[in-house]
Amino acid sequence: MHMVPVNTFPPSVILYGGTGQAKIARPIIEQYGARVVAVFDDTPGLPSPFPGTPIYPGAELPNWLAQQGGAEIGFSVTIGNPHGRARLAIHDRLKGLGLVPVSFAHPTAFIDESAVIGEGAQISAGAIVLAEARLGRCCIINTKASVDHEDVLEDGAEVAPGATLCGLVRLGQAAWVCAGATVLPRLTIGADAIVGAGAVVTRDIPDGATAVGVPARPITKSERNPK
Ligand SMILES: CC(C)(COP(=O)(O)OP(=O)(O)OC[C@H]1O[C@@H](n2cnc3c(N)ncnc32)[C@H](O)[C@@H]1OP(=O)(O)O)[C@@H](O)C(=O)NCCC(=O)NCCS
Repeated sequence: MHMVPVNTFPPSVILYGGTGQAKIARPIIEQYGARVVAVFDDTPGLPSPFPGTPIYPGAELPNWLAQQGGAEIGFSVTIGNPHGRARLAIHDRLKGLGLVPVSFAHPTAFIDESAVIGEGAQISAGAIVLAEARLGRCCIINTKASVDHEDVLEDGAEVAPGATLCGLVRLGQAAWVCAGATVLPRLTIGADAIVGAGAVVTRDIPDGATAVGVPARPITKSERNPK
């Protein structure tokens, strides 16, 4: 993990992912004087989330980039969880094409100066990131979520709206703590694990598990929606 500048943007930025997270990102990015010039998304037929801003399939990106005359273009992969792994993979691909990763935080978010924010962070309105917290790459801290002192979020982790991580919590890669859940101090949520909305986590959650309820208990695949 290394500290990256937050809210420093090239004049033009693209978003990869054209639904809800894009709607969160654009006003923040544009508030700081940059412009979202295009959106990319691999969902066939998805309309642009912003009237007047073109949307293209991801395969068009190299061609589109070739037409930009070598200008520095920023990017954010605005794909929320449970797609943390995809967010990371696309982030690396875009970086490899020469695009510049940006990290953004809404002006109402509080980020302690000792917190370490990784590349590609997305921090929404009212979110809180306290002392010595460390965020890896491509983490999302959503609306009014709180990440307390000394928490460690590995790459691709997401804390959903209103969720609370107490101090010294660790989230593994691409772990997802859903809306309004609470994780008690010093616990570990494993890689790719999901903590359901409203859960209270009182024990470590293993890699890949989905845990729901108060206190949170893992549910099996057969209990989960087959969709
Ligand atoms: C945890 C979660 C991801 C599981 O989704 P899923 O795998 O599709 O699970 P299902 O909906 O099939 O539910 C499986 C069982 O768990 C229960 N369950 C699911 N989520 C639950 C929750 N948060 N709390 C309590 N029970 C829950 C269901 O009622 C169901 O039980 P049943 O079989 O007795 O009816 C989902 O329910 C959830 O909490 N999503 C929150 C999303 C969110 O916060 N989004 C923020 C976007 S910014």
